[in-house]
This record gives sequence, structure tokens and C-alpha cells, in this order.
Amino acid sequence: MPADGRGSSGVTPISYKEFFRYGIFGLAVAAIVAFGISPFTGGIVQQWSRSDVEARSKLVFNAIQPLLSRDVEDQAWDRLSDLFKRVALDKKILAVGFCDPEGSLLAPTPEMPASFSCEKSAKSENESFASIASGGRRILVAAFPISSSRGRSYLVILTDLSFAAARSSQVLAYLLAALAGVVLVLTVGTIIFAVLMMRGWMKALRRAVEEVRRGAQGVPLQLGGSSIDREIHKLLRSAEQVTFTSQIDWTPKSLQEVLQSVLPGAEVLVLSNREPYIHNTSEAGTVVQRPASGLVSALEPIMRACGGTWIAHGSGSADRETVDDHDRLRVPEAAPAYTLRRIWISEKEQDGYYYGFANEGLWPLCHIAFVRPTFRSSDWQMYRQINQRFADAVVAEARAEDPIVLVQDYHFALAPRMIRERLPRATIITFWHIPWPNAETFSICPWKAEIIEGLLGSTIVGFHTQFHCNNFIEGVDRFLESRIDREVQAVSLGGHETRIRPYPISIEWPPRELEKLPPPTECRSSILAQFGLAEDTRLIVGVERFDYTKGILDRMRAVDALLSRNPAWTDRLAFIQVAAPTRSKLNAYSKLQAEAEALAAEINERHRGRQPLMHLVARHYEPSDVFRLFRAADACVVSSLHDGMNLVAKEFVSSREDNAGVLILSSFTGASRELSEALIVNPYDTEEIASAIELALTMPIEEQAERMKLMRQQVKEHNVYRWAGTMLVDAARSRTRERVLGLATKAGHGVKQI
Ligand code: F6P
Repeated sequence: MPADGRGSSGVTPISYKEFFRYGIFGLAVAAIVAFGISPFTGGIVQQWSRSDVEARSKLVFNAIQPLLSRDVEDQAWDRLSDLFKRVALDKKILAVGFCDPEGSLLAPTPEMPASFSCEKSAKSENESFASIASGGRRILVAAFPISSSRGRSYLVILTDLSFAAARSSQVLAYLLAALAGVVLVLTVGTIIFAVLMMRGWMKALRRAVEEVRRGAQGVPLQLGGSSIDREIHKLLRSAEQVTFTSQIDWTPKSLQEVLQSVLPGAEVLVLSNREPYIHNTSEAGTVVQRPASGLVSALEPIMRACGGTWIAHGSGSADRETVDDHDRLRVPEAAPAYTLRRIWISEKEQDGYYYGFANEGLWPLCHIAFVRPTFRSSDWQMYRQINQRFADAVVAEARAEDPIVLVQDYHFALAPRMIRERLPRATIITFWHIPWPNAETFSICPWKAEIIEGLLGSTIVGFHTQFHCNNFIEGVDRFLESRIDREVQAVSLGGHETRIRPYPISIEWPPRELEKLPPPTECRSSILAQFGLAEDTRLIVGVERFDYTKGILDRMRAVDALLSRNPAWTDRLAFIQVAAPTRSKLNAYSKLQAEAEALAAEINERHRGRQPLMHLVARHYEPSDVFRLFRAADACVVSSLHDGMNLVAKEFVSSREDNAGVLILSSFTGASRELSEALIVNPYDTEEIASAIELALTMPIEEQAERMKLMRQQVKEHNVYRWAGTMLVDAARSRTRERVLGLATKAGHGVKQI
């Protein structure tokens, strides 16, 4: 057993120290009880002793009364004195005397106190008992009236009462000893009983948890039949179920089933900035737009499968007209599956929270694209304010005390803690969709500690890659006082534990969009016709938001470089770049768009031929149009300078049921870890991208197919349902773990790690 007294199992049995502590506590209780009752005990014993003395005095008086009357009548004081001396031989009697009618004391025995006075003690018509103090002792004076021809005189018998005090202390001492004995026996007995019971119970629990951990199925658990045993049994069985779900073939149906089995009846709430459906006013009336957002493409199929409430910023011009009185609407319109709750943000708030802190601060901070982050305290204030608004909405929408809250992205670093404060039993999974920088880079943020602290309100914080998890933990280590358990990748702050996990995001499989699309050859013909390109044109495509992290200029320069070094491609090649304008209010973005347009014109000018080389489409494409373009392409270029995952790469792969086409992929994307059969390039190396494009255009169809098949298999297996399913399964595991720990704590034991 380790020095701290814990068993190797992590279960803490009662230590000797605790044993003595409980024993001393029991004795102290006994002493307090004895001390409390001692005044009553003393009083009762003294009362008993006094009654005893009174009865004895009466007995003496009755016994000597005939002799006494005779001697008094005869005035035989010597005989009386002898009689009194004999009476005083009794050890308890201190002195005896006779008070004559004049109040004089006659024939007193030698121990009679000098201070005794007949005047004070013998004057009642009946027998009387009074206590007096003399020489530090308490003395009981019993006075018995005797009538004679000379008048009323008294026999006085004095008894020393100090024996009563001694007797009461003795009784108290016996009482204390008996009480201490009983308490000691009870304490020791209870501790032994509790230790034996707990040891057996915890042993069974430990063995059962170990079985579940090892993945043993169907092994009967050796637990007893008490209600607590049954509860543990149920929890462990559900944990066991959770363990084996990792082998599931993930589909919308299996995701639903897993959710039902591991989190029955759980309420799911999603929190994101971007909404899945944007209603805009147009000349044709209200139109619904699906935003160009990886986050939305990943979460939408999950919400369709699981239902729940998605809380997001209502950013469309017709959004207010399409919600009910509670700012809610059911979506998608054609087959409502979940609720969209819109949050309103004023333009000023949007400038500070979204454009300012999120996109001029955090976005460049987290992406290594060499754009300087800008931190303004006014933006930070706005960011906090909007995080609070969204957190309040989560609390308002939650019907249960313990919902599953899926917080999305860098717009809501503070919301997890804000939600945790109001819903302490919620399971909060925060997913950070962009990279997390190393501690050195992150250190420039003036509010780094607050951001990390906010995220640590989550039950789980997820990133795309293990590398980003490591960066985050490194940041926690540098900027916060907390306990880090690197083995299980957990951070404890203020008694709350957060697990840090990689969950590589993905896309739905098979993509819904494909159902409506014609085969790749038809897509190709229609795209060539749409862009006025010759039938034999080789097509390279790129699709993204107009963002400086995407390396759009770099790939355009690479196409330029390819044609410059091999002009034979002139007229045989076209590059279609679709880029949805985004965050155009920001200088870095509007500048990029202007630069790209100028560069496209310049390149077209340089490589003038029968048809333009560069086709820059600066507008939003609906998903079906994006997929049509992918199916038409010979190659797709994803040259992000830095990207958490990049779903365009996965979407391109998923669109190619014909196993044709080549993916050229930046090594600085999360996707490059999974899609290793792509042509992996350094986006900063123009010549390398140019060579990769040429390689793609000359790659034999068989090799294309081999590479594409492997990548398709990877995306198929690691689809978005697995991404969500794994997170939800981990959430269920956390809930089970917390309940097991709660039960163990209730039973008086801590369980170290399960
Ligand atoms: O990359 C993270 C991400 O949230 C994407 O999901 C999304 O494409 C983008 O950032 C956010 O774009 P927007 O600011 O237009 O919502």
C-alpha cells in the first residue's frame, strides 16, 4: 500500500489515523454527555443522602424518646449526657444535644460545633431539619420538640453531610466510566463493520470497472443486491455499452441509436455564431441561404439526426420575419427536424464581438498566416457581453438541468464557464474549429487566462488534432494555476475537471447533395459550357470563403508559374476559383479580394490564348453547385496557409464516386493527417504547388483511382456522424463517470481514476 494510505486500486480504506480520530470523537461525545448530566446526578445523590440522614435522625429520636423524657423530667443531666454520648458513637452522627425551654444547650457531646445556637436551630413547633455551615462542612441539624411540665425543649442531632458530596462524585465517576465503555464498544464495532462492508463492496466495484475497461463483455458482475449495488451495476453496464460503440459503422441511424442508448432522453443544445439557415429578402421575396461554413456543414446533419435546439445569431435580413414570438423556427422547412433559436445582435455589438475580437483578434492569433492580431479592450467587452447573451439563451432554452450543450468555435470561448455557473450539471462539449497556437504565440493575447478559464468550464474541449490539444495544455500550464493530468489529458480547475480530446471533424457520408446531381461526365459538360470553355479543357478548381488563411493568391501564382515554365498548357487549362465573400468589412479581407481580382486579370493577360485561364467567381455557391464543380474537375487545390481541418478537401473526395480527380492538399491542414493519398504540398512554395498541379494533370487514371478509393474509404469511415458520435459517447462516459464517483463519494470513498 502506498505511503498515503491509499490502496493500489485507488480506493481509500479507513486509515489508523481515521480510526483513532473516530474513537477520540466518540469519547469526547461521552465526556460532553457526562459533563452535561453531572449537575443533575450530584443533586439527586445529595437529595437521596439528606433524606437518608433525616430518616436516621428520626429513628434515633424515636428510639431514645422514653429515656429522654424520663431524664428531662428528673433533670438527670448526667444520665442524659451518657445517653447522648452513646448515640454519638454512630459514625454518621456528629453531635447530639438538648435545648431547654430557655434556649440553653445542655449535655452537648464533645463534637458539638462551638458556633451551634439553640436560638437559631430549635424553635419550630414540629420536627425540623436545617443545614448549617461550620468549619467548611455542611451539617444537617435535626430538631425534635419534647413537651414537659417545664415547657417545650428540643433534642438536636447534628449529622455531617460531607459524605453525601463524596458519594455523588463517586456515582458520577462510575457513570462516566460506564458511558465511555459503551461509546468505545459502539465506535469500534461500527468502524469494524463499516470497514468490512466497504472493503467488500469496493472490491466488487473495482473488479467490475476493470472488466468494463478491459472490454470484457457479458461477464456477470459480482455485486450484491442492495439498491446502491444495483445502481452501480446499471451504470457500469451503460459504460460498457459506451466502450464498444467505437466500432460502429456511423450513419444518421446509428448515431440516433447510440444517442438513445448512451444518453437516453438527453436534451441536445448547439451554440454557434453562424446559423444553418439564413433568411434574406430579395426581389423574388424571402430566400433561404445555406452559409459557406464548415461548422454548419458538419453540424447540420447531426441536428437532423438527433433533433434539439440550435442557438445562433440571426444574421439574415428576413430572419426576424420568419421566427415565432420566442425567436424560434423549425428547420429545415421541408422536413422540420430541430429548432433554430435566433439571437439578435446589433451592428455595434457585431463590430466588437464578431469582426473585432473574434475575427481581428482570435482568428489571426490562432492561424499562422502572418496577419497581425488586433486586440481592443472595447471589442473584448463586447465579446464578453455577447457570450453572456448566448449563455443566457442556453439556460433559457434548456428544459433539463443536465442538457448536452455543444458549444462551437472561437466565438464562444467564455460561454462554457458562464453556462456551467448557471447549469452546473450540464455536459458541455466545446469544439474549437480552428487551430490552437503554441503557448508562445498565444501569450500575446491580453486576455489569455480568461479565455482558457472560460473554456475550462466545459466537460470536454475538442480540437481537430492531437497537436492542437497539446498546444492547449501547454497554454494552460503556462498561464493558469491548475492541475494537469497528462496521462488522461485532463485539466482540473477549482474542483472541475475538463478533458482535452482530438475529434477530427468530417462531412456526412454519403453527401445529400449527390442525390440530386447528374454523373461526373454530365457535370463536367455543364460546367465547361457554363464557363464557355472548350470540351478538351483540363479543369482545376478551388472553393472557399475569401479568407487570407486559405492561400488563394498562392495557388493562383502556382498556376501562373506552371504556365510560365510550361507554356504548352496554355489553352488546355482553366482554373475556376469560387470564393464566397466573407467578413468584407475588415480591411484584410477586402484587400485580399481586390488583390485576387487584380492577380487573376494579370495572369489572364500574361497567358492570353483562345480562352481565359483564370475564372474567379467571388460569390456564394450553394452546396449543390459546389459539388457539381467538384465532379467536373480534374484536380482540386486546397492550399490553406493554416487550417484546423478543411472540409473542402473531404467534400471533393466525397463527390467523386467515379474515383477520378486528384486532390492537392496543404500540409498545414488537419485534413492532410487523414488524406495522405492526396498530393501534399507546402502552400508557401509556389513551384511545389505548380509541380503538383502538373503531376495531377498527368496522373494515370488508375493511380487517381487508387488514391481516391483510399481517401474515400477514410472519409466514409471517419464521417461527421463518427465525429459527433465519439463526442457524445465521451459525454455519456463523463456523465457515467461523474455518477459513479458521486455514488462512491456518497458511500464515503473516493475513486481515483476509472
Ligand atoms: O473554420 C472555422 C469556421 O467556423 C468555419 O466553420 C467557418 O467556415 C468559418 O470559421 C466561419 O465563418 P463565418 O465567420 O462566415 O461564420
